[in-house]
Amino acid sequence: MSTPPVSPNVVWHEAGTAREARWAVLGGRGATVWLTGLSGSGKSTVAVELLRRLTDLGVAAYSLDGDNLRHGLNGDLGFSADDREENIRRVGEVARLFADAGLVAVVPVISPYAAGRAHAREVHEAVDLPFVEVFVDTPIEVCEARDVKGLYAKARAGELTGMTGVDDPYEAPDAADLVLAGGRVPVAEAADAIVEVLIGRGVVPESARRTEPDREG
Ligand code: ADX
Repeated sequence: MSTPPVSPNVVWHEAGTAREARWAVLGGRGATVWLTGLSGSGKSTVAVELLRRLTDLGVAAYSLDGDNLRHGLNGDLGFSADDREENIRRVGEVARLFADAGLVAVVPVISPYAAGRAHAREVHEAVDLPFVEVFVDTPIEVCEARDVKGLYAKARAGELTGMTGVDDPYEAPDAADLVLAGGRVPVAEAADAIVEVLIGRGVVPESARRTEPDREG
């Protein structure tokens, strides 16, 4: 992806208060956890569990869910390649702002193009914000069998075109920070694994590591 556009005749204003001082108010460190995968792969489910875990740990976090953002900020965008690229550009920028504000931005979006995801990583790393890419690697057969929203059935019936994985591309990451393989990772384990990566990146304190599995029964 090329350099992001800048409006004419505008200059960048520094925030004035140092990042560390702002982050100290929230008592944490900003970062973005980017969950990529097919529709129905479990991205949002993992995001909800991760958000719950981080909140329980006292880590300020917020979810920027692709479906939800398409009800507002990105409601003007469809599913063409250009619109998806613009969708991901905007979500990447918003996540960067949230991370800079000192929250962990949890971002479940299909983000089917490698270039868009790479760009989101770049805008974070350019300003020293951790970017954790998680590939929710659930095979299309599993997503389609779930078909929670009925979109795969519609696509197969020819009532919906451009469905990711059916007649629209999904470029799988080849160097994700974490891969949740096969659609078989229980959601609590998925959240544990992401928290572990965040501990390794200094975003979540070591004391957050669970010694006992949090299982019922
Ligand atoms: S992205 O491709 O631009 O990253 P995003 O994550 O924002 O997509 O939105 C995906 C959601 O839109 C899916 O979970 C699904 O509910 C819905 N959707 C509607 N049409 C399509 C389509 N053609 N392909 C994929 N998802 C679609």
